[in-house]
Amino acid sequence: MIIAEDIDVVRNHIKSWKADGEKIGFVPTMGNLHKGHISLISSLKQAGATKIIASIFVNPTQFSIGEDYTEYPRTFDSDQKKLRKHSIDLLFSPSTEVMYPKNILSELTIKYPEYNNILCGEHRPSHFSGVLCVVNKLFNIINPDIAVFGQKDYQQFILIKGMVRDLCMPIEMFCAPIVRESDGLALSSRNQYLSKQERLIAPKLYESLKEAKISIDNKLKIVDIENNAIDFLSKNNFLVDYFSVRRSKDLKKVDSNQSFNKSIIILTAVKIGRTRLIDNILIS
Ligand code: PAJ
Repeated sequence: MIIAEDIDVVRNHIKSWKADGEKIGFVPTMGNLHKGHISLISSLKQAGATKIIASIFVNPTQFSIGEDYTEYPRTFDSDQKKLRKHSIDLLFSPSTEVMYPKNILSELTIKYPEYNNILCGEHRPSHFSGVLCVVNKLFNIINPDIAVFGQKDYQQFILIKGMVRDLCMPIEMFCAPIVRESDGLALSSRNQYLSKQERLIAPKLYESLKEAKISIDNKLKIVDIENNAIDFLSKNNFLVDYFSVRRSKDLKKVDSNQSFNKSIIILTAVKIGRTRLIDNILIS
């Protein structure tokens, strides 16, 4: 596995692989890799990628003020060992100076204003413009044929897919399913912030989504489903940012009359103590 910190080194490798007809698959991450991240590598291989590129970069611009940028777990040594085991061809791990050579306050902004104000966007004001900016840069550096993102961050996937379409980027986009612990908790680098007690109640988040899915199958009113879930989570000491039933293709709201013949997604974000967790469930 090649480890590269410089943009030119990455570009030279990719250029020669492309000249040899290789199909470049890319999985961007912020490191602290778990089985969820690793599953994305398999998805890329299944999608036909013949060279796999991963990146590890904890992107400062996607953390809002007061969030966990400085304490975000940085575990490069064990990450690179895991990637080696899974036959990654190149790991791009740039410094902040490489990704943001100028003062980050003067960075270009890319955003979908409407989506910046809903769901996670509403609660993390600069998050998605930071994500779109860094993914755009990474795409320009790697020039992948295929890129994969997790359903776990579904709003992120929808926005990046939109950016790829709207900026005419020739990249095939894949969304990989959520990998969970045996008790249902979605794997996340932030799970390690949970205390023992918090970790015990955390699986109730997925329970609330499964319960809501059953209620949708039973054609309960959307507003009641959302309110019941918020009550359930609040009673279990979760601070609910949102619990919302949306159209899966564009995250628009659905009402009860429309919902039952559409592909929908139920999304939620909560805080348990100081830890923010997100999860969702798709219903086709
Ligand atoms: P990070 O949180 O490291 O996640 C990297 C990728 O792993 C994302 O596509 C995310 O959706 C996926 N992922 C995380 N947990 C998962 C799980 N339990 N099952 C399946 N996939 C999972 O998302 C980011 O980094 C950043 O915003 C990034 C896109 C790298 C831009 O900085």
